[in-house]
Formats: sequence, C-alpha cells, structure tokens
Amino acid sequence: MALKLPADYVLGTHTAEGDRLALQHSLWIDEARAAWNQCGIRKGSRVVDVGCGPGLATVALLEAVGETGTVSGIEISARFAQQARARCEAAGRSDCEILQCDLMTDSMPPHFRHAFDAVWMRWVAMFVRDPKKLISQLSDLLAPNGVVALHEYYAYDAYSLLGGGARVREFVQFAMASFAKEGGDASIARELPQMLVDQGFEVVSMRPIARAARPHEPLWHWPAGFIRTYSPTLVKLGYADEQWLAAIEAELRAAEANPASVLIAPSVLEIIARKR
Ligand SMILES: C[S@@+](CC[C@H](N)C(=O)[O-])C[C@H]1O[C@@H](n2cnc3c(N)ncnc32)[C@H](O)[C@@H]1O
Repeated sequence: MALKLPADYVLGTHTAEGDRLALQHSLWIDEARAAWNQCGIRKGSRVVDVGCGPGLATVALLEAVGETGTVSGIEISARFAQQARARCEAAGRSDCEILQCDLMTDSMPPHFRHAFDAVWMRWVAMFVRDPKKLISQLSDLLAPNGVVALHEYYAYDAYSLLGGGARVREFVQFAMASFAKEGGDASIARELPQMLVDQGFEVVSMRPIARAARPHEPLWHWPAGFIRTYSPTLVKLGYADEQWLAAIEAELRAAEANPASVLIAPSVLEIIARKR
C-alpha cells in the first residue's frame, strides 16, 4: 500500500532536497535573471517570490531591486520559510517579510494585497491542486499593471536519457504520477496562458527553455540529481521497490561512464504576463 509522507508537499523539505534546490538554483539563476530583466524588475521594484522555498531566488532578487526596492516571500513550509528569512538576514536585509501560508487555503493579508510590482514564481504551480486559485492569488498580490514572471514545465515527459534509459523513463512516469496524486500537474505550463488570460492578464511574452546535459557538465547533476534525490521517496510512496532503486542507480552510473550520454531535462516555459 502506498504510504503518505509527512511533508509540507510531495518533494519534502529535508536537507538533501534543500541541497538539490541550491544546485538547481545555481544552474538556473541566469535564466531567472533574464526573466526579471524582461519583465522590468529593476532598482526600486517591489517583488514577491511566490513559493520561495529556502529563499535562493529571494536573495538574488534583493540584488536586482537594490536598497530602494523590497522583496517578500510566500512559502507553505515553516522550515523553508525560516531558511528564507535567515538567508535574507545574512544578506543584510532584515526588512524582508517571508509569509508562511498555504496559497490554496489562506487569503493574503491586507498589506500584501495589490502591494507588488512583480511576482516571481518558479516550479510552484506544478504542485498545487487548484492552479486557477493560485493565479487569483497572484492577481491579488499585484498592483494594477503589475507583472508576473514564471518558470514552470510544459513538457515534463521530455525528461529522458537519449537513446535508451528504460528506468529513467519509468522514473519520469512515477514522478508525474506522484505529483498528480497530490493534485499537481508536472506540465502545468500548458494550461497557464489560458488561465492567466481568463483572469484578466495579458500575456506579454513566452520563451521555451529546453536543456540537455552530458556527464562531464555541471548541468548533468540537475536532472540526474533529482532522480537520485526523489527515487527513494518514490519507493516510500509505493511506486517502486529497492530492486528498482538499485537498477536506476546502475543505469545512471552506466550513462555517466559513457561520454556520449545525454540527459534531456524537462522543458520549461517562461511566461510573462501583465495584470490589466
Ligand atoms: C520545487 S520548490 C521551488 C522553490 C523555489 N521557488 C525555487 O525555485 O527554488 C516548490 C516550492 O513551492 C512551495 N509550495 C508548494 N505548494 C505550496 C502552497 N500551496 N503554498 C505555498 N507554497 C507552496 C513548496 O513548499 C516549495 O518550497
């Protein structure tokens, strides 16, 4: 029987997941900054990082908005919210408010309503059971003409080991099923443009981001690292067993021993939309 894990959300907030998010952030910060430039985040902007996790992008946003701007965060996990606060304080900014709340059930406090020029959101919509509700929360946070910049996957099933990788294929199917079981949708970006338009946003720009990694490249450790971090959870959830865990590790090691191997990452869609 499948187990229910004690976690704020399906990926958990344990140390290995925190480390994975940090590696992921280091490999995606240039793409995030490109989105921030594109949507007009600049010195003096008031930005909220929705689903900020342990505050990795939150702190990078502080640099972008400078001393005259503000960055806030919203996060369901008490552990991640505390880590985000600590990161902002270590960056010399004790004025960052990290609100711990569930975007699915909690209303925004009055001082967060219509208070921001920009929302940044990365890999959050894929985990929520009601993305329309999430979009309405984003709208509530934004001042008139405010912008949302987001990175979410539109083709999670692109995630694969080129030319083979049967266990990796299974991993991707199991991972998608585990997100869906909690009400999420790994490829939610397919639905977001319509949802944004339906809720009064104008889509300003879209950019698909597809990435491929070879074993000697730092990027390899992002798709391979997620397989290694999340596979034990899939076993605990009942999607696979210990034998499968050993088999997927063997498949990854064999791929890493072959310089011609290519891991395709799940494809991201950047969406920038303006509240009318
Ligand atoms: C994959 S992590 C991404 C974290 C961060 N955005 C980043 O790019 O590093 C997804 C984050 O969304 C948060 N989250 C998921 N569901 C949420 C909800 N209903 N309300 C608030 N935060 C949520 C999780 O706790 C987690 O920190």
